[in-house]
Amino acid sequence: TAPKILVFAGSAREGSLNKQLAKLAAKRIEALGGQATFIDLKAYPCPLFDEDIEAQGMPENVLKLREILADHQALLIASPEYNGFITPLLKNTLDWLSRPYGDTPGLKLFAGKWAALVAASPGGLGGIRALPLGQQLLANLSLTVLPQPLSLPKASSAFSEGGELINEAVGQRLDTLCQRLVDVLAVTHR
Ligand code: FNR
Repeated sequence: TAPKILVFAGSAREGSLNKQLAKLAAKRIEALGGQATFIDLKAYPCPLFDEDIEAQGMPENVLKLREILADHQALLIASPEYNGFITPLLKNTLDWLSRPYGDTPGLKLFAGKWAALVAASPGGLGGIRALPLGQQLLANLSLTVLPQPLSLPKASSAFSEGGELINEAVGQRLDTLCQRLVDVLAVTHR
């Protein structure tokens, strides 16, 4: 079967700009010949990571997310920047999925897979400070991270009513990133 890209945002809120960007990225991946699944992390609430909770057994939503991730060969994540960092929701989700450490599924769930990171912010810098930190985290999980992440500044006014990016050059940059993810998967997951 064709390789699939899992797309989600590091924000749970209803009107999330990053969810909007993630949804558009999923649409663009499909338009560019790839396969994408958008999921909303609000539908899979996981407790704040605590090894005592883990010792009682993996929360049901972690198991669900694990299953979804196992069925995909790449991740495209849109994360807000909170105080110059990725969000606790994204970190918490990835921390749960990285467990149990060093064993199946744990980190093996990520190994050999690709990841691309984007960020949207109503501010002028577009969440750019969180991108290298998020990329480092993804690399620490054994994901192979695409260079040149995308930040979307002034995101509150960046989308048309149809959910497209109004600025063509920015839309082109998103397409370039999506295309690269589709292309690397075509090479590595024939
Ligand atoms: C923010 N916001 C923010 N924005 C930014 O560009 N750089 C930053 O460092 C921060 N820091 C920050 C911290 C906290 C705790 C919150 C709640 C917010 C603003 C943030 O970009 C804005 O709320 C976005 O709309 C959040 O993304 P979603 O939910 O729209 O995807």
